[in-house]
Amino acid sequence: MKYLKKKLTIENVKVDYIAKKYGTPTYCYSYSELKKNINNFKNSFRSFSPLICFAVKSNTNVNLIKEIKKFGLGADVVSMGELMMAIKAGINPKKIVFSGVGKTFDEIKYAINKNIFLINAESESEIKQIEKIAKLKKKRIQIGIRLNPNTDAKTLSQISTGKKENKFGVDSKTFIKLINNYKNSKNIELKCLSVHIGSQILDHKPYEKMLKSIAKILEKIKYRFEFIDLGGGMGISYDNKQKSLDYKKYQLVIKKFLNKYKSKIIFEPGRSIIGNTGTLISKIIYIKKSGKKNFIILDAAMNDLIRPALYGAIHRIMPSLKNNKISNENHEFVGPICESTDSFLNLKKFQELRENEIVVVCDVGAYGMSLSSNYNLRPKPIELLIKGSKIKVIKKRQRHKDFI
Ligand code: LLP
Repeated sequence: MKYLKKKLTIENVKVDYIAKKYGTPTYCYSYSELKKNINNFKNSFRSFSPLICFAVKSNTNVNLIKEIKKFGLGADVVSMGELMMAIKAGINPKKIVFSGVGKTFDEIKYAINKNIFLINAESESEIKQIEKIAKLKKKRIQIGIRLNPNTDAKTLSQISTGKKENKFGVDSKTFIKLINNYKNSKNIELKCLSVHIGSQILDHKPYEKMLKSIAKILEKIKYRFEFIDLGGGMGISYDNKQKSLDYKKYQLVIKKFLNKYKSKIIFEPGRSIIGNTGTLISKIIYIKKSGKKNFIILDAAMNDLIRPALYGAIHRIMPSLKNNKISNENHEFVGPICESTDSFLNLKKFQELRENEIVVVCDVGAYGMSLSSNYNLRPKPIELLIKGSKIKVIKKRQRHKDFI
């Protein structure tokens, strides 16, 4: 996204043009950013050719998954719906891993029927359930076991998953017990040790600790895994100050680990692939002065993008037209929903704004649309994919009649 003659553009298309033609609020993705992210990810870890499984939960748009598939990525799914969507997008089931703490009998059966690559189990009860279905189907099913490495990801507590108080995975004692119980099973093949310590991780050191925990376990057991699934979590920059995770440093610690423990690596990135490709285009409905504050009331709301309300996440906001007139008043960008947490951003300084102007909320490609809802019975936004000067509608705007 850049300003060309003061007009904000996504690839070669002006944001104002998009708003006029397709209305607002609108999710808009840039193909060239997506391509850049995937190639950067692939190149950074090329030395050990990992299997890269896109975390579908971060963005479930079938047309985007189709584009991601063209780069050879697989998928990481956490429900029957996501598994169906990945298959619909044409992802080879042999590149699909199924994660999650609470897979139901029907979900496991469906995954087994589709012959997916790997089910990452998170408890003994789940392994028993998989074994039961595998027996019924007279199959041998490849599973991973998710280890809870008790590692602090140093990220927001709400999106931290690798500490012992989190519900995810099993502790090292249980892990060892499960290996011993299932290594000679007829219907279960222990293929993978999996971990995922959290999301939006900006420093490589928690990953280094995580790998140390894995190494410790591997030292204790005689069993060797063909695959180690390191999950996702690679953090991106949501403002101009933060730096995204340094892939080079992460790559180096993995290389060191692989020198000793020879396994194939799986990654499950979501945000780092799709996060910065998306913007939410929105129109200012009203500007309300209240005391020392200007409420900028947008037509986008927490039902369209819940990250600020749910995690206190910061997303930059940019005007579609630069006017270089700075206002030093307090600005609060809010949505129209009847909740005080329906607020996107507080700023001390912004350019002067007027009603009906267009602004964009940045970096909403991951966990934006996928976490959207119909709260306040608001229809979900349209989604567009921009490729150069081309605009493709990749999901239609919901209409009231779709749910009334
Ligand atoms: N693998 C597993 C097992 C996961 O639980 C997750 C994310 C990922 C991979 C992908 O993580 P990523 O590379 O996208 O960080 N809604 C929150 C993020 C929740 C992440 C949940 N798990 C947010 O908006 O920040």
